[in-house]
Amino acid sequence: MPVSMLARTLRGIEWIARDEARSRLGLERIELGHRELRFSVPELVPELLELGTVDDVFQILAEVDGVTRRRESLARLASLDLGAAPTFDVTASFLGKRNYNRFELEDAVAASMGGMRVARHGAVSLRIHVVGEVATVAARIASRPLHRRAYRVDTVPGSVHPPLARALALLAGAPFVDPFCGAGTIPIEGALAGLSTRGSDIDSRAVQAARRNAGAAGLRIPFSVADAAGMAPVECVVANPPWGKAVPAAQVDLQARRLVLLTFGPTGLDHIVHEQAVRVHGALATITVVER
Ligand SMILES: C[S@@+](CC[C@H](N)C(=O)[O-])C[C@H]1O[C@@H](n2cnc3c(N)ncnc32)[C@H](O)[C@@H]1O
Repeated sequence: MPVSMLARTLRGIEWIARDEARSRLGLERIELGHRELRFSVPELVPELLELGTVDDVFQILAEVDGVTRRRESLARLASLDLGAAPTFDVTASFLGKRNYNRFELEDAVAASMGGMRVARHGAVSLRIHVVGEVATVAARIASRPLHRRAYRVDTVPGSVHPPLARALALLAGAPFVDPFCGAGTIPIEGALAGLSTRGSDIDSRAVQAARRNAGAAGLRIPFSVADAAGMAPVECVVANPPWGKAVPAAQVDLQARRLVLLTFGPTGLDHIVHEQAVRVHGALATITVVER
């Protein structure tokens, strides 16, 4: 019996997550939705937990039709037979306007678990997502969300969401340098994807944080203290420079043949081959790929 899976990711990088799932899991058929991928696997395999560009992976337990925008329709969820787990927690979301809120949706599924205790960080994490009139009920297959990386012992202000850092690294697809490395997320995610990476930052505390994180990931990545303005030309740079409203874009001329950048707002650089919006924790950012 094939197992139906749901992987959640960020708005804007769904296609990168699909390509990663294709190559890592050897799958052809992957359905792309708003912030999600759906696919089937012959069985639950460890490679599912190695998907770096997704926030979380769930096994689909049920799809319930007829969950409209009316509150009464939530009763359809209460008749689900989801088996028994000692404790569980439920997270719900939906697209479109509804006459109920996410907590009522969560309660409706919790009711289907009979006398079970709903607990934060319970043994089984259920996720309910309603699109149109179909509610998908799914269980997390890992003990915690995949985006919560165990190596992250240190962060700096503005540290990148790891699945997004992994997506930037995969867009580079080649050895790269991050001259604004902060706590090292991008070089670490690149190394976890099998690429040779390096990082530097003007702030020595950031470099210390990057070294600690790389150590916790079991990786040996060269990190150094340096001003990006003085960097020697390299083949490829992947970074999220602190450009934005306060600092004009491209203040430091990055000397690389290929650039993959994450910024708040367009970079205004020349030779852009790809530019797209991505939504991270509600904020809109831009991924730019430049080739010179
Ligand atoms: C948005 S943070 C990078 C966060 C990093 N990607 C992470 O995940 O932790 C920007 C970094 O640029 C560094 N920075 C600012 N100006 C710099 C410069 N001229 N040269 C090198 N690093 C610089 C800051 O110290 C900060 O760590």
